[in-house]
Amino acid sequence: MGEKSWEVLEGACYGCKKCRLWETRHNVVIGKGNRNADIMFIGEGPGQQEDLQGQPFVGPAGQLLDKMLSAIGLTVNDVYIANIVKCRPPGNRDPHEDEQEACLNYLRYQLMLVQPKIIVCLGRIAAMAIISPTFRITKQRGEWVQRKGYWITATFHPSALLRDESKKRPAWEDFKSIRQKLTQLQQNEV
Ligand code: URA
Repeated sequence: MGEKSWEVLEGACYGCKKCRLWETRHNVVIGKGNRNADIMFIGEGPGQQEDLQGQPFVGPAGQLLDKMLSAIGLTVNDVYIANIVKCRPPGNRDPHEDEQEACLNYLRYQLMLVQPKIIVCLGRIAAMAIISPTFRITKQRGEWVQRKGYWITATFHPSALLRDESKKRPAWEDFKSIRQKLTQLQQNEV
């Protein structure tokens, strides 16, 4: 992908057949939100609603994510939201490693276009793909690493919070830390 633009990314993604997920997708789900956001959230992959609507985080997990963003004073217009894989893994299974590998260059390109200050990995799959293959979400969530000019952290996936209420409190701590980091970085800018 030569010249960096959203059109180039979209063209490549909409025709993509680099892995088997194209066979069962209804839509390629690229991202939503503010393309100039200081903060980018990265989930795992589209679910059923996302596949049907072509937008990330529009199903139940997305509604919870919206609430958590709102609790730290943000809306989808303040953030950019994408996924590790852009096509739905059938039955919402985890994306296979070769599928993630095939898709990651699109995400790297997307990161170059958005240039966020902060990356938040939502859940284990995103954290393992972006932070470290040995990442342990229960142990390491909420920690910050600085890499390639980004501040990066991970928290529980909103779907995990829907399945297990006890994860909500630690996730809330992570969101407060994310808010703090964003405020800090934005203040340093002026
Ligand atoms: N779960 C994800 O990881 N991504 C979505 O877009 C929706 C649900």
